[in-house]
Amino acid sequence: MPIRVLLVEDDDLTRRMMTALLKKQGFEVIPVANGPMAIAEVKTSPPDIILMDVMMPEMDGYTACRAIRAMPDRAHIPIIMLTALDDVDHKVKGFEAGADDYVVKPCDIEELTARIHVLLRPLVQLRGQLSSEEQARAISIFSLRGGAGVTTVAVNLAAGLARLWNLKVLLADMVETAGQTALFLNQALRSTWADLCRAEVEAIDAELLSSVLLPHESGVMTLASPRRPEEGELITAEKVTRVISLLRRQFTYLVFDLPHRFSDSCLACLDQSDVIVLLLQPEIASLRSASIARETFETLQYLSEKKIYVILNWTFPRQGLALQDIERMLKLPVNLILPYAPDEFVTALNLGKPPVLAGPESPLSVIFEDLAFALSLEQHQKTTPANSTPVWRRVIERQRKRKSA
Ligand SMILES: Nc1ncnc2c1ncn2[C@@H]1O[C@H](COP(=O)(O)OP(=O)(O)OP(=O)(O)O)[C@@H](O)[C@H]1O
Ligand SMILES: [Mg+2]
Repeated sequence: MPIRVLLVEDDDLTRRMMTALLKKQGFEVIPVANGPMAIAEVKTSPPDIILMDVMMPEMDGYTACRAIRAMPDRAHIPIIMLTALDDVDHKVKGFEAGADDYVVKPCDIEELTARIHVLLRPLVQLRGQLSSEEQARAISIFSLRGGAGVTTVAVNLAAGLARLWNLKVLLADMVETAGQTALFLNQALRSTWADLCRAEVEAIDAELLSSVLLPHESGVMTLASPRRPEEGELITAEKVTRVISLLRRQFTYLVFDLPHRFSDSCLACLDQSDVIVLLLQPEIASLRSASIARETFETLQYLSEKKIYVILNWTFPRQGLALQDIERMLKLPVNLILPYAPDEFVTALNLGKPPVLAGPESPLSVIFEDLAFALSLEQHQKTTPANSTPVWRRVIERQRKRKSA
């Protein structure tokens, strides 16, 4: 992840030259021409560091610097003042405005780079730790239409992954109010997203997060949906983004039960997902919703990133659309078909025990175990675990049989 530098400089030529030089040093550069543009940029997409020219028309660099320091959740961003004026008075003025450092123009790019690195040392170290984030895999389950089996798939996938790799798996219910993941696992709602989101963004840390997760015997840890409608409003996209980034450091697998609409928090979640499972039923209204979702995914470039995995769920017994018609209209292949299995699902719900835990005799368990493997990290799929689980051995045995058949 390159370091994002916001360069604020009113002189066109200097701005262009510095942009080119900084890019050569490996930075991502966002060049803007004045203070108000800088403030707007900091608000919408905060950079890692800011290089601020002092003398600019309209608003000088000191004023812009003070305005940024006054933003509660942006005040931590390091600011280096750039100025042609090399005297003590101006330096003092810069530091008083809240600048972290001061560089005299025309600046030596090597010196500037070194100063950026000094100021960002804690961030760079954090990024180093975060590289383990890439080992995590976030999987979102989505349907624009209700009742397609989103919660069913999310719960079984999460429990399947936990049993397959003998790992704790995070299952987050992203439905704003009264979502059902905890119910499917028969968990009491001791705490929910609301207990997390009552805190300010910056106050949400690993400790607070662990205190609101609900453990399940399968190895799944649930982040449950709030009980009351007004609590749903506490969950903002910004908080969701922060929580997911924290969760990625604690869990290898994250599964999200998404609401049936593109809310802000849903979009934040989709954006941070490595895989998106699109669910649909073999009937026209569901197909239409899935096609709309597909178009949105195309716009968001999820199709080109190959993030989409399609599951066709037979939630009813007869007279569904033919598979080829579905694939043709959806313009996507169906990766998995879930059969109609009312008894198993109803029993599972009543017992609070997802079918994937029912063991090898259950056809649904077989399907969800194989699905968990199919959606696992590539490096997990490719290596034989030191202590393999019964689920892993069953999955591999089935693969072997299929190959030899
Ligand atoms: N393949 C299936 N066969 C039979 N019943 C199913 C199947 N898949 C899901 N169901 C049942 O359909 C109902 C809806 O499923 P589920 O709650 O998982 O869907 P959802 O998309 O999360 O719905 P909601 O809109 O309530 O969030 C549940 O009672 C579930 O047990
Ligand atoms: Mg649901």
